[in-house]
Amino acid sequence: MRSIEGMRVLVTGGAGFIGSHIVNDLVLNGAIVTVYDLPGSLKNVRKQFAGKEVRMISGDIRDRGRLDSACRDQDLISHQAAFLGTSLTDSKLVCDVNIQGSVEVFSAAADAGIPRVIYASSETVYGQAITTPQPETHPTNPLHPYGVSKLAVEKLAQVYSAHNGTLMTGLRYSNVYGPGEWFGRVLTVFLKRAREGKPPVLWGGDQIRDFIYVTDVAQLHSLCAAREKLPWDILNVSTGTRTTIRELGLMISDMFELDPPMVENVGMGQVSSESEGRMRGRVECKEMVLDNSRAKSLGWNPQVSLKEGIMMQYNWLKENPDAWNNPGIS
Ligand SMILES: NC(=O)c1ccc[n+]([C@@H]2O[C@H](COP(=O)([O-])OP(=O)(O)OC[C@H]3O[C@@H](n4cnc5c(N)ncnc54)[C@H](O)[C@@H]3O)[C@@H](O)[C@H]2O)c1
Repeated sequence: MRSIEGMRVLVTGGAGFIGSHIVNDLVLNGAIVTVYDLPGSLKNVRKQFAGKEVRMISGDIRDRGRLDSACRDQDLISHQAAFLGTSLTDSKLVCDVNIQGSVEVFSAAADAGIPRVIYASSETVYGQAITTPQPETHPTNPLHPYGVSKLAVEKLAQVYSAHNGTLMTGLRYSNVYGPGEWFGRVLTVFLKRAREGKPPVLWGGDQIRDFIYVTDVAQLHSLCAAREKLPWDILNVSTGTRTTIRELGLMISDMFELDPPMVENVGMGQVSSESEGRMRGRVECKEMVLDNSRAKSLGWNPQVSLKEGIMMQYNWLKENPDAWNNPGIS
């Protein structure tokens, strides 16, 4: 296996939640990292990762001129930038940023002669599970435009690879959590309530998810970067562990000595009165557990248990009490 010591890596979306952990892990392993992200996001990001100064370029992935100059002299692009809106009203921006933006990234990489791209895909490409845990060969039937955009990116990556020989690796992340997560998803809502001494609110609670701690994701990313070639172009990044939202709620009640979770009768597309005024999606994925055998066969194993990870995220929230004052997407 080659080392990533001295490897020059451009990380799009490197100021975001997962991107900044990826940057940190790459720097820890000796890579020379450049972050490429929107000006608004760069304003809030620290400039030092793992004790080292990291170069920051403010730019939009759809701005080809800016991207071309950022791509100069890079060995690898880690493409994490995306717009994560999941409602139908987000469709246009989702397609524009995620599909058009990825086309710009892939073609800029090809034109600059960058041999390798690792890009973020998502569990949402699968849609409703037919079997679980879902292997990478499971049928793909996304439920939202966002999932469609991620599937389109995978297909585009395959086409660019076939035409240009760029080695493309798509990482299908399951439900990533940890310090720096944006507010809006179930665990963040539970943790915000926990800080206020309130118990979790369940909308049924039977939904099954696969939570993976963000540093485990970053470690797998570095391991992939260190490989000359992988046996597959798509990998699930997950724990493969089933957790119902009820179990998650019970765990949080227990960990933070709260009342037991309460159940609120919120139908699909209805707004909750208890839970931060959030709207329950009109279409909901019932079960999402990803088979991580491919990733494990590379010698990777997720290290952080759900309980440990929740505690670390909670402690981060305590130290950054304003982090979720401007709620993002739901
Ligand atoms: N968080 C998860 O659980 C999860 C699960 C599956 C896949 N993913 C994927 O992982 C990647 C990172 O997600 P995240 O959770 O860290 O989200 P995030 O919103 O924290 O990070 C995305 C970053 O992309 C940047 N960005 C958005 N539009 C851009 C543009 N036009 N040009 C340049 N930069 C732009 C944002 O400013 C942000 O810093 C995304 O590709 C996402 O689709 C995330």
